[in-house]
Amino acid sequence: MEKRSSFSGQLGFVIAASGSAVGLGNIWRFPYLAAKYGGGIFLLVYLILLVTFGYTLMLTENAIGRKTGKGPLIAFAELNKKWGFIGIIATVIPAIIMPYYNVIGGWVLKYLVMYLIGGHSALASDGYFGEMLGSPIQLLIYQGIFTAFTTFIIYLGVEKGIEKYSRIFMPILVVMAIAVSIYSISLPGAMAGVKYFFIPNFSNFSISGVIAALGQMFYSLSLAMGIMIAYGSYLPRTENLEKSVTQIEVFDTFIAVIAGLMIIPAVFAFSGGDESALSAGPGLMFITLPQVFEKMGFSTVIGAVFFFLVLFAALTSSISIMEAIVSSICDKTGWARSKVTIVTGILSFLVGMLPALGYSVLSWVHIFGFDILDFMDFITNSVLMPICAFLTCVFVAWVIGSNVIAEEVEQSGPFKRKKLYNVMVKYIAPILLFVILASSVLQSIGLIKI
Ligand code: PFF
Repeated sequence: MEKRSSFSGQLGFVIAASGSAVGLGNIWRFPYLAAKYGGGIFLLVYLILLVTFGYTLMLTENAIGRKTGKGPLIAFAELNKKWGFIGIIATVIPAIIMPYYNVIGGWVLKYLVMYLIGGHSALASDGYFGEMLGSPIQLLIYQGIFTAFTTFIIYLGVEKGIEKYSRIFMPILVVMAIAVSIYSISLPGAMAGVKYFFIPNFSNFSISGVIAALGQMFYSLSLAMGIMIAYGSYLPRTENLEKSVTQIEVFDTFIAVIAGLMIIPAVFAFSGGDESALSAGPGLMFITLPQVFEKMGFSTVIGAVFFFLVLFAALTSSISIMEAIVSSICDKTGWARSKVTIVTGILSFLVGMLPALGYSVLSWVHIFGFDILDFMDFITNSVLMPICAFLTCVFVAWVIGSNVIAEEVEQSGPFKRKKLYNVMVKYIAPILLFVILASSVLQSIGLIKI
């Protein structure tokens, strides 16, 4: 049997897993959800979910991967034959995410190209984003290029090479994002936005906000879709699992918070405190950042560098999504990797045409009131991921026993938060996940209003 290669050490693992975790989820998705669901209260709920659910699931997935040395599709079945179906659900999730992730990757690419050809003032003008969504051919071209690029990297098998660049580009992205956020905060009227983002206002609390925060946490950390199982399978037994997992969570959350600070205060500054601007949804980053850059001056350079870095972060995430799909299919069927890669790339482009066209040619399509992109996002983040997380917890706590995970963690040092882990995985996580999931589904099909 082919020996599974492993990361060169803790840092290698953390960088690779962060490459998957840090992406559009942090920079595009987190700020618009935080803006929409009440700012500080969303952040608070997010952080609570992170240190409880997020930590539990992240540790579980990595431990399962390291223990079995397998990807998700096989790992669950190896621990218990009857429960192998969790692996299938876990594989379906990235297959739905990939097509629409590439559509948003395409938007980022389009913005980068616009900066490079000197279109900065057009980008900053009102209505540009909406016009872009309404031009189907353009969107398909950029979505196609982004998909092709991801496919090409997986086809050539150069993911590891790309990860090396993360060591250079990620720190630059962090520094630049911090600089932009400082500028945003200093804009007149922005302080109200900082307060909105950091100070929880309990009257903004809503169950839909909790569901959104939960889905966002899974999405942002690449959890509940088997990806961390695959990463865990490459982690050497000598590396401290608990510590590595904590580092990824801290880094991922830090980037999300900085992204929130770049965008939310600026929304307040530009809208003169008009709170309806906060509910802009998926377009928020694309509308707000060009305006910030325009004000900063040197917008061509700043915009081009920034969107390049975001594109890179999106690419390292999309690679991990595609890798998860391709390796699962190959593991299961034994088909040639190159063929599976090409077919996956083409299918994902074709499926991705639906969300790409959902704002123009297909704007009449609504599923449970969502447009196509929002529906694909909803069905994965708010339905399938909680199901997958729920089943994983039940499986670990009640089928194989949480001791299996504890033993795996203890191979590389003491398990400091073992008690918290056991209580979470046995009781709190499954019960809350069930409640959240049920309310999310009932609400979306209109049976309850929360
Ligand atoms: N975690 C990535 C991000 O925050 O952009 C997104 C992502 C990666 C989603 C991998 C799904 C996935 F399978």
